[in-house]
Amino acid sequence: MKIGIIGTGAIGGTLAKKLAAAGHDVKVTNASAEHELANTAARLGVAHASLRQVVSGVDVVIVSIPTNAIAELPKDLFSGVPDNVIVVDTSNHYPTRDGEMNVFNEKLESVWVSEQLGRPVIKAFNNLLAHSLEHSGKAKGEPERVAMAISGDDEKARRVISTLVDDAGFDPVDNGSLSESWRHQPGMPGYCTELNASELKQALVDKDGIKGKGASLRDKSMEIFTGLTATPTHEEILTILRSLFPTNPKQHNAILEKADSAS
Ligand SMILES: NC(=O)c1ccc[n+]([C@@H]2O[C@H](COP(=O)([O-])OP(=O)(O)OC[C@H]3O[C@@H](n4cnc5c(N)ncnc54)[C@H](OP(=O)(O)O)[C@@H]3O)[C@@H](O)[C@H]2O)c1
Repeated sequence: MKIGIIGTGAIGGTLAKKLAAAGHDVKVTNASAEHELANTAARLGVAHASLRQVVSGVDVVIVSIPTNAIAELPKDLFSGVPDNVIVVDTSNHYPTRDGEMNVFNEKLESVWVSEQLGRPVIKAFNNLLAHSLEHSGKAKGEPERVAMAISGDDEKARRVISTLVDDAGFDPVDNGSLSESWRHQPGMPGYCTELNASELKQALVDKDGIKGKGASLRDKSMEIFTGLTATPTHEEILTILRSLFPTNPKQHNAILEKADSAS
């Protein structure tokens, strides 16, 4: 596939590398001057382009920039882009980075992104930590392959993006329409807790009345992280995020396995 990526950071840059390695034709852009962008693209092993060029002549555009920067993109960026080009949103709102965005008290993050871009979006690649994206991928069929959630209103587009998730080394889990995308926003049990596909499916179900609690649980996790005296390891970050929910599948299943082996 021909893929344009806006953003070459921890997520966009890693996706560029992985999708190019999987045989896709990838071009990237970022907010830097042209010579810096060219160096970054060369390091990633992909082509570089201007913002306008990166959305042109592609099958998929992946928008992977901070949430507050999405509002700054030109409002007509997608006006000449054919309707069948799929737009993917990887963003997660963090007030500590983006500032408070009160719009999210009433609106789902990717619904707002879709309005900003003037295009339907598929929310994907948002529910794994950058470290997981870079290091936890596995070949299809390998045991304990980590899973990623995908939401969006177009079923065919969700299927196409599922193939990219697979190419990046992860099991895609179809979470249905964009209105359900809160289930993999920050603070949710399926958010950045490195679950396999069956665990992620369990985590995407609202067993505990968690709808609407994501923002406060996200902020609680940020408080825990800022209170730490040493930089947490990746495993420690996962443990903290899993601990937000007693029923987090990874945690819950481990407790059950321990109880089983003790009896
Ligand atoms: N990091 C994670 O663990 C993680 C996990 C899942 C989802 N996400 C989400 O994915 C998105 C990207 O995160 P990240 O961690 O990759 O961020 P990041 O490392 O800070 O990289 C952000 C990228 O966006 C580019 N950028 C910023 N404003 C831009 C603009 N107006 N036009 C074009 N490019 C612009 C930056 O360009 P320069 O390089 O030129 O500065 C940079 O390449 C965020 O919404 C984040 O919440 C992050």
